Amino acid sequence: MQTCDVVIVGAGAAGLFCAGVAGQLGLSVLLIDHSQKVAEKIRISGGGRSNFTNRLIDASAPHKHFLSENPHFCRSALSRYTAQDFIELMKSYDIPFHEKHKGQLFCDRSSEDLIQMLLKECDKGGVMRWQGCGVKAIASEDAGYNLQTDQGEVHAGAVVIATGGLSIPQIGATDFGYRIASQYGLRLVSRRAGLVPLTFDGAEWAPYASLAGLSLPVSIETGAKKTLMRFDEDLLFTHRGLSGPAVLQISSYWQEGQPLHLNLAPQEDIEGSLMQAKVRSKKLIANELGAWVPHRLADAWVAQDPQWQRPVAEASDKALLQLAQKLSRWPLTPNGSEGYKKAEVTLGGVDTRDLSSQTMESKQPGLYFIGEVVDVTGWLGGYNFQWAWSSAFACAQALKQKQALAQ
Ligand code: FDA
Repeated sequence: MQTCDVVIVGAGAAGLFCAGVAGQLGLSVLLIDHSQKVAEKIRISGGGRSNFTNRLIDASAPHKHFLSENPHFCRSALSRYTAQDFIELMKSYDIPFHEKHKGQLFCDRSSEDLIQMLLKECDKGGVMRWQGCGVKAIASEDAGYNLQTDQGEVHAGAVVIATGGLSIPQIGATDFGYRIASQYGLRLVSRRAGLVPLTFDGAEWAPYASLAGLSLPVSIETGAKKTLMRFDEDLLFTHRGLSGPAVLQISSYWQEGQPLHLNLAPQEDIEGSLMQAKVRSKKLIANELGAWVPHRLADAWVAQDPQWQRPVAEASDKALLQLAQKLSRWPLTPNGSEGYKKAEVTLGGVDTRDLSSQTMESKQPGLYFIGEVVDVTGWLGGYNFQWAWSSAFACAQALKQKQALAQ
């Protein structure tokens, strides 16, 4: 039987980082993953370049960029291991990176640089890795846990669950973490796909389906008053609905049955411009619109109403006003999302009421949860990886302290 101080299940972002830090603190660590390859999500993230953190994370106000039943839960971990700390680690490995926009940091070359760094950190800590190894059962026993795995029995003083969320099952996502939480009576916040493209009823979407591939900057919002959320980002039309950063961001806040409102020309005063055009222009409305939104969108838009298919000078004020209002506040109610197959993250997860925000240890002594399996979900833009690094670091420190106290 293999024995060690800690077994970490899941060699993704959080598991790899936790293993490296804990190993370097002197703990004997076994890292187990059922996939043959480590960190498949890091590999595909950020279009293959990993948006590995965000320079603008405000650890003192995590509710600005993180969703959770308790958005303040992540404050402690985020302030003890910051974006700057991770940036320093990347620099110490001479990994080139750049900022795209809104504080988002990406690898210059490829995500592989980041994965290799995490593996080297594990090597420095003498971490044992079992890849392609499933965990069949976990049972608590005197002074720790017994794990039945595909490579035999393991005894460990502590177990860290870092198995992530449900998104992209085709590269290894499972509900393992949630099942282990339930096995030990920990509460779960219901799960749903986040940072995900939204879909619309086929008939409703038919006029826009031909716009698939078109991208433009928009303003998008959902909710009202206290729940109002707005993002100014790029929108992408797809065959079945909408995607792009604007929609991925809003999808985490959108509730089923609620409408979204889009402003397709947020920088323009469409109403004023159309009224001015009416007195000076001989152009068709679609051609006027083409100055403010892509021509394909302008054509699809005016096709919806015969009153809009004429020269702007001949249109009634009412028709122009309706056109401007619909363009600047287009109400749309999605019929759903593309689901976990296309989602970047899973909202919900292990209820933070049953975890320590200082250590990530659960109410079940010696059982820890880190990363996306926890009910903490960040915005698009590097926030989710930073949560993985920060929660992993807090956990590794706590494991070391607990061991020191026990000696
Ligand atoms: P992660 O999913 O990374 O790792 C979980 C590990 O557990 C996997 O290796 C899996 O094989 C393993 N596992 C699962 N079940 C198991 C079982 N039963 N037994 C053993 N092992 C098991 N975030 C960000 O900040 N910037 C970005 O650029 C992107 N981009 C992005 C693109 C795409 C396409 C996706 C799907 C996601 C992103 N994300 C992102 C989100 C980010 O990838 C995600 O939040 C982190 O990887 C979560 O890290 P974890 O370590 O918690 O889970």
